[in-house]
Amino acid sequence: MFIRASLFWCVAGLATGLWVALLLVAPTFNLGLEWTSFGRVRPIHTTLIVYAFTGNALIGSSFFVAQRTCRTALWGSRDLHQLLFGCYQIFVLLAVSGYVMGATQSKEYAEFEWYTDLFLLGVWLLYATILVRTILQRRERHIYVALWFYLSFVIVVGMVHTLNNLAVPVSFTGAKSYPLLSGVQDAMVQWWFGHNIVGFFLTAGVVGMMYYFVPKQAERPVYSYRLSIVHFWSLVFIYIWAGPHHLHYTALPDWAQTLGMTFSIML
Ligand code: HEM
Repeated sequence: MFIRASLFWCVAGLATGLWVALLLVAPTFNLGLEWTSFGRVRPIHTTLIVYAFTGNALIGSSFFVAQRTCRTALWGSRDLHQLLFGCYQIFVLLAVSGYVMGATQSKEYAEFEWYTDLFLLGVWLLYATILVRTILQRRERHIYVALWFYLSFVIVVGMVHTLNNLAVPVSFTGAKSYPLLSGVQDAMVQWWFGHNIVGFFLTAGVVGMMYYFVPKQAERPVYSYRLSIVHFWSLVFIYIWAGPHHLHYTALPDWAQTLGMTFSIML
């Protein structure tokens, strides 16, 4: 179900990509409506690509890889798995419908407002519980490196999502909220989030997928398992620090820019 959903969202994500590309050339492609202006369709494209297309593929494949490499069935009942599946798609719809109506936090990849943030947090905790408990009940002593990457994806996404979205809603019946942090501190946390949401969805998560499916397709073991462990620790340790490279030549203090730049070169 997750892989089918991923393919569906892939088509929708690429179509909206094409749409924003057209909007850049000719704004009249908004069909004369504010609901379909560039500023509203662009986050639909990035949300569909990152969370819907890649997210569904990662959740689905992590469950597959965990069961294969741990020689165990998925933890929890079938109803629970279907609840996770349904709620994850509802999260995508909540995010996208908010953009169309003009509800946005104006934070790239975190545009969805507080109610969608809280919903995603709940869904993420359910996903983390199912994956971690499946790994805990494994019948294989070793945890294969692909799962290390998937686990880093689950932990880092939960962490940066929670901290970047600390906000106070104006009312419980409205979409608008104000972030707890402001100015350059808010920008730094936003790009710590933005850098790592891309890094742990599109890099670490997808790399985890590769570590299982590439050797499987090639019918060859991983070339060097030792190197894959070095790969894991160097990626997760260095990636986390590189966020400030999104804020060069801004009000961010020089030392923080230099730190981000240095870690980016190391990365
Ligand atoms: C039919 C294919 C695609 C088209 C036509 C397309 C088009 C676009 C356009 C026009 C933008 C906005 C650029 C701007 O604001 O200046 C954009 C942004 C973006 N797209 Fe796509 N896209 C496509 C596929 C993808 C895929 C496959 C991915 C990732 C797997 C992706 C990830 C992104 C991201 C992360 C951004 C934001 C980049 C940034 O803010 O720097 N897109 N895309």
